[in-house]
Parts: sequence; structure tokens; C-alpha cells
Amino acid sequence: MNKGSKLYEGKAKIIYETKDKDLVIQHFKDDATAFNNLKKAKVEGKGVLNNRISEYILTNLAQCGIKNHFIKRLNMREQLIRKAEIFPIEFIVRNIATGSLTKRLGIPEGTVLEKPLLEYCYKNDELQDPLISKDHIFSFGWASKKEIEEIDITTLRINDLLSGMFRGIGIKLVDFKIEYGKAWNKDSEKKEIVLADEISPDTCRLWDIKTEKKLDKDRFRRDLGNVIQGYQEVARRLGIMPEETNISEVNFGKTTSIKFKKK
Ligand code: TMP
Ligand code: ASP
Repeated sequence: MNKGSKLYEGKAKIIYETKDKDLVIQHFKDDATAFNNLKKAKVEGKGVLNNRISEYILTNLAQCGIKNHFIKRLNMREQLIRKAEIFPIEFIVRNIATGSLTKRLGIPEGTVLEKPLLEYCYKNDELQDPLISKDHIFSFGWASKKEIEEIDITTLRINDLLSGMFRGIGIKLVDFKIEYGKAWNKDSEKKEIVLADEISPDTCRLWDIKTEKKLDKDRFRRDLGNVIQGYQEVARRLGIMPEETNISEVNFGKTTSIKFKKK
């Protein structure tokens, strides 16, 4: 599949056109950002690992009936996906309190929530992805009631499936963020809602069940060190990258050029 021109560049990924108007290529960069771009660094090998981990997770979800944009992995950093018109909403599910939930509402870190908590944020970098209510979504036409009903059900199902998947490899799924879009379905000749973007240690909080060691982007956000080793551990436990795999192309273990920018 030949790569066409760049359609969009985000903080961690680039989207390229293909000859097929309904398909695009998603390229995973090594760039890591936190606190809405305030903290930036290159984490070498992150793009390669996220490409693999997201491929694995989205393939498994598809096998459980969760429609998503993933078609196939093309190489170390790229995957072919269905082109989707992304809802400007981040869907966050929380099982354990941490991160912005503890900061915003003072809920003690590590509190196990009685049931998964679903939050919505408006995808807007300039406004720093603010938390919104369903009424904001409907008032401003970001999605319809029917669409949100369908997405809420799918999102909670994804939480159940992923929680089980990670529990099986000794990891707690603390929380995660997902995105959805509308993509063309050739068979039904209609647009349908699909899970889009990525699911990886960039977009989930993953703690080792026994030690509660963080195996996700919080290692970067909180300067805990060994960022790539956390991602590698997730990939290894998922069976994607056995320990003996030689990934010499990628220089793992280095986090370079961290920059702090004043607002
Ligand atoms: P938060 O506690 O910072 O609101 O994050 C909740 C979850 O969403 C956590 O798993 C990290 C993920 N997340 C993203 O994927 N992208 C983001 O921009 C933010 C802020 C969080
Ligand atoms: N979206 C945030 C940023 O770009 C990253 C994060 O905290 O995950 O800074």
C-alpha cells in the first residue's frame, strides 16, 4: 500500500492518504508529550511498541465483535486503517482513582471504584481537552443521543474485555482513553461507528497486579524513568515480543531531549 500525502499530524501519530479514499495509513512516532504539550521528549522505540500493542488489542477486540478501524499492520511503525471522521470527544473509563480524578475531586489515589466511571472530554488542545457532560455533547452537536448510547455500551464492554485481557497477564487496567469515528461500510453502504485511534500504554494506565508498578505513560509524565521498559514489559506479557526477539533496529532504553516549555 503506497503512502500518499500527509493528512494530519498529531502529537504521537501521523495519518497519510492512500489511493483508496476509504483507507489511510497511521504512523506511530516516538514523540511523547504530557500536560498538553508542556513536557516533550523522544522515547526511542515507543512508536514501534505502540504499533504492535495497538494491533494486538484491536485485533482481539474485533474478534469479540467490537468494530474498529484496524485493517493490518504494514511495518514496524505503520498500520493500514479505515478512514474515520473522529468524534471530537475523548471517552475515558476509570476503574481505580488516579490522575486527574484525584486532582480534580480529591478522591484518594488508588480507590477502587464501585463501578466503572465513564467521563467525556472535548478534544481540543488549545482548551486542554476539558471535561464535559453529555449535555454539552448534545447541545453543541458533537454526537447524537443515539450515537452516545451505542458508544457508551461499547465502551463499557471494551472495559470488561480489556480488564480481563490484562488481568490474565498480571496487570490491572486502572483507566484508559479511547476515541471513536464514523467510517464507510462498503457492504451496508452506510457509515458506521468504529473504535479508532490506538489503545496502548500511551492511552491506558496499567499497573502490575502484585507490585502496582506502573507500566504506562505515567512513567514519563511523573519522571519515573525506564519508560520504554514499561511498554516492553506490557508487550512481552502480551506475547507480542518474546524476550529473545532482537529488536536491534530500535535503540531501547533511552529517553532523550526532554524539554519543558513555559505556558
Ligand atoms: P487523566 O487521569 O490524566 O485524565 O487520564 C485518564 C486516562 O486517559 C489515562 O489512562 C491516560 C489517558 N489519557 C490520554 O490517553 N490522553 C490524554 O490526553 C490524557 C489527558 C489522558
Ligand atoms: N494529551 C496529553 C499531552 O499531549 C498527553 C497525556 O497526558 O497523555 O500533553
